[in-house]
Amino acid sequence: VHLVLLNSVDSTNSYLINNYGSHLSICNKIPVIATELQTQGRGRLGRQWHSGLGDSLTFSLRWFYKQGPGFLSGLSLVVGIAIIRVLHSFGIKELALKWPNDILYRYRKLAGILIELQGEMQGPTVAVIGIGININLAPNTKHAINRKVSDLFEITGSVIDRNRLLAALLAELQNVLSNFNQLGFPVFQSEWIRYHAFEGKPVSLVLPNGLSTQGIVDGVGEDGSLILKTATGRNRFNVGEISLR
Ligand code: BTN
Repeated sequence: VHLVLLNSVDSTNSYLINNYGSHLSICNKIPVIATELQTQGRGRLGRQWHSGLGDSLTFSLRWFYKQGPGFLSGLSLVVGIAIIRVLHSFGIKELALKWPNDILYRYRKLAGILIELQGEMQGPTVAVIGIGININLAPNTKHAINRKVSDLFEITGSVIDRNRLLAALLAELQNVLSNFNQLGFPVFQSEWIRYHAFEGKPVSLVLPNGLSTQGIVDGVGEDGSLILKTATGRNRFNVGEISLR
């Protein structure tokens, strides 16, 4: 790992994309950018990601994978598994995943993942994997986030050492991502479903075109797609935002 620690940056994903490009620059090591403060943190679906000075663990790493961009859904799901495994090793329970990759504590968001692909549309693909974990959110950060959130301080009653957490995450991410590169998503499928917050539950899935589908969650496919039992049968989805009905 080639670790860069910043005091402040617009977004660690943008910094990595702008400074480390898609080629193997600087060295063969995995570049990782972590920061105390992001001024323009980005979330999925064009949303903002709010975090205040030192109140989160905010970092991005670059990863090459050979499968091609079609495998992105599987990639983002396995990153969620790595985060859950590490938080479990810190004694944190009652965690679940919301498809594709939000980490929830009692249905409130604890961490998010933003994966951005770069370079050629033919493999190997360069993925910039950005992770934000709420550690001890300042009241004004919480206020800025306009949905149900949680942080590790609320769960454990103590401020977790971010250095230890980052080190454990980088080790587990390398483990999980190497396995993903070799074996793909199928070896992770049953573990992911075990953590699935909405498994077997009735949900609405809002598609990017604004239309929504109703169904019962029936796992995820071998490619990481979400499976819903709907009026027309068992359907797979690669995009969309789910919520409980
Ligand atoms: C989401 O839940 O919508 C994804 C949030 C991802 C946030 C992280 S924080 C580090 C990295 N840099 C960014 O600008 N975003 C990601």
